[in-house]
Amino acid sequence: MTMKKITIAIDGYSSTGKSTLAKALAKKMGYLYVDSGAMYRAVTLYALDNGLIASELNQNQLISLLPQIQIEFKMNPETGIGEVFLNGKNVEQEIRSMRVSEWVSPVSAISEVRTKLVSQQQSMGLKKGVVMDGRDIGSVVFPNAELKLFLTADDDVRAKRRFDELMQKPHNVSLESVKANLIARDQQDSSREDSPLIQTQESVVIDNSKLTIQDQLDLVLNLIAGIN
Ligand code: DC
Repeated sequence: MTMKKITIAIDGYSSTGKSTLAKALAKKMGYLYVDSGAMYRAVTLYALDNGLIASELNQNQLISLLPQIQIEFKMNPETGIGEVFLNGKNVEQEIRSMRVSEWVSPVSAISEVRTKLVSQQQSMGLKKGVVMDGRDIGSVVFPNAELKLFLTADDDVRAKRRFDELMQKPHNVSLESVKANLIARDQQDSSREDSPLIQTQESVVIDNSKLTIQDQLDLVLNLIAGIN
C-alpha cells in the first residue's frame, strides 16, 4: 500500500535540533526538506552586506529593496539537501555566522519580509511530501499540515549543540555568547507581533534534551504511521 504524502511542520525554539530531525525525516520518507530559517538568514545577510544595518536596522530601506532579493534552494548532489542561494550565490555557510544570528530576529519581525518568504514557502509545499522547519510553519505557513511537531530542549543542551556545530568551522565564539544569543532570539521570536513562535493546539511537543536522533525519528515515524 502506498502511503499518501503529507505535510510535516516542525516548529520550536532555536537550536532544538529541528533541522537535524527534519533532514532525517525527509530522507527516510523521500520528502523535500525546507529550512525556512535559512531564508530569513539570507535576507539578514543581504541587509548586512548592503549597509542596511549599522548600529540599527534600516527597516524602510530593507522593505524597499525586497524585490531585489532572490532566494532559492539548489540541491547539493553530494548531501541530497537543498542549499540556500542569495541572488545566485551559495550562502549556506555564511548565513550560519553569529553576525547573522545577531540580527535575524529583528529582520524576521518585519511583516513585509514575512509576507514575501511565507508565500515562497507555501509554493514549495503545494505538492505535499514536504518537511519544513521554522517558527510559524504549523501556525501560518501550513495551518492544515497533517503533522505538526513542536521541539524544545534544555537551554544548556541547546547552547552546547549550537556551539559544537559552530566549532566545526573556524568561528571565534564562546559558549556563553551562543547561549545568550539563543535566549535573546527565542524571546524576540516569541514576542513579536507578526507570526510569533507559538505551540499550536494540534502540535505534538517533543522535548529532546535526552533523546537521540534515532529516538526522535522512531517516535515521529510512529506518529506518521498513525496518520496513514
Ligand atoms: O531556524 P533558525 O534558527 O536558523 O532561524 C533563524 C531565525 O529566523 C529565527 O531566530 C527566527 C527566524 N525565523 C522565523 O521568524 N520564522 C521561521 N519560519 C523560521 C525562522
